[in-house]
Amino acid sequence: MRYATITGWGKCTPPAVLSNADLETIADTNDEWITTRTGIKERRVSHVNNSELARVAAEHALAAAGLTGADIDLILMATCTPDRLIPATSTKVQDMIGAHGAGAMDVNAACSGFLYAYSTADKMVRAGAAERVLVIGSERLTPWLDFTRRNTAVLFGDGAGAVVVEATDEPEGLLSFELGSDGAQGDILCVGNTGSETGPRRDVLPDLRMDGPEVFKRAVTMMGKAGAKVVAEAGWGLDDIDLLIPHQANVRIIDATARRLGLPPEKVFVNIASYGNTSAATIPIALTEALMEGRIQPGANLVFAAFGGGLTWAAAALKWGSRTQPIGTSDAALEPTDATGLDLLAPNIDLYGSGV
Ligand SMILES: CC(C)(COP(=O)(O)OP(=O)(O)OC[C@H]1O[C@@H](n2cnc3c(N)ncnc32)[C@H](O)[C@@H]1OP(=O)(O)O)[C@@H](O)C(=O)NCCC(=O)NCCS
Repeated sequence: MRYATITGWGKCTPPAVLSNADLETIADTNDEWITTRTGIKERRVSHVNNSELARVAAEHALAAAGLTGADIDLILMATCTPDRLIPATSTKVQDMIGAHGAGAMDVNAACSGFLYAYSTADKMVRAGAAERVLVIGSERLTPWLDFTRRNTAVLFGDGAGAVVVEATDEPEGLLSFELGSDGAQGDILCVGNTGSETGPRRDVLPDLRMDGPEVFKRAVTMMGKAGAKVVAEAGWGLDDIDLLIPHQANVRIIDATARRLGLPPEKVFVNIASYGNTSAATIPIALTEALMEGRIQPGANLVFAAFGGGLTWAAAALKWGSRTQPIGTSDAALEPTDATGLDLLAPNIDLYGSGV
């Protein structure tokens, strides 16, 4: 029987930090509000394109799998912040990592995107349509931030994570998954004035809008429901779950999802304090950090759950394989920068104005 398993993992978090104290200087907010309402203490601001973040994460994932780009036959890149509308950013990454002739496409399901791409990769491999798929979740969200809108400006950050999915004879990998959407609610979390609906006008500013409490309610409901469904479909009881790796949008959403699944805090991976919400990148970054910290043992039962713009939601239950250490390492890194998070965000303030 043919199965598909994750054999490599990697991340790229850009060096420039934007702390809550930094935010207090450009937005009408404060550390106490952000910490208690979201759990976020700081986030990263990229000085390079999204494709470059994705390249570095991908090189680490390939090395961990003992592979090079030339071994990959399909790249699925989950992102809602492509370098350009055309071409797909995944094709740029294909060239950068030397994945000669590999298929490449972007997947936009906002914050749920990584699980959409990962479950597609699993099915492509299990069906025999691909041998080795590189799945990336990568975002450069900070160019869209408007610091006059404090409810969104404090939430998002930049980063990338990647995994390699390969065929195996071992009964491991994805056991069950759930994908869903509700387009009727699309306007409660959207970035307007960025697509062709604007027509030929070029004099309108990108417009990141969110009804926070409405998104919050739906995220708690759908992440909990989808998570419980994949656990039941995997044939697990709640005690069988070793680790929940949820999308990192808000620590209160994570806590509510964990409660719904009956999980104690030690069975939930949380790193939102360091990176904020990096949309499609949160789960592969968290998975990589969980492995680096020894939180995943051979044969572990993992649950992923996510929610995002669309609205979209997704969850997956998977059995980890026998290897939790990388086969190799890569020295891939971003070009160094001395710029601070505040330096890199000065253009946003020129465009939208300051929130203080
Ligand atoms: C955005 C979010 C943190 C706001 O928290 P909340 O408890 O729902 O707060 P509300 O939006 O009801 O606002 C409460 C008050 O805080 C204020 N507020 C909002 N953002 C603030 C900020 N950054 N700093 C200080 N005050 C803020 C509001 O203006 C409001 O003030 P008012 O009562 O005087 O009108 C929360 O709704 C959330 O996390 N939603 C989900 C967002 C998300 O995950 N999006 C990505 C989806 S993947």
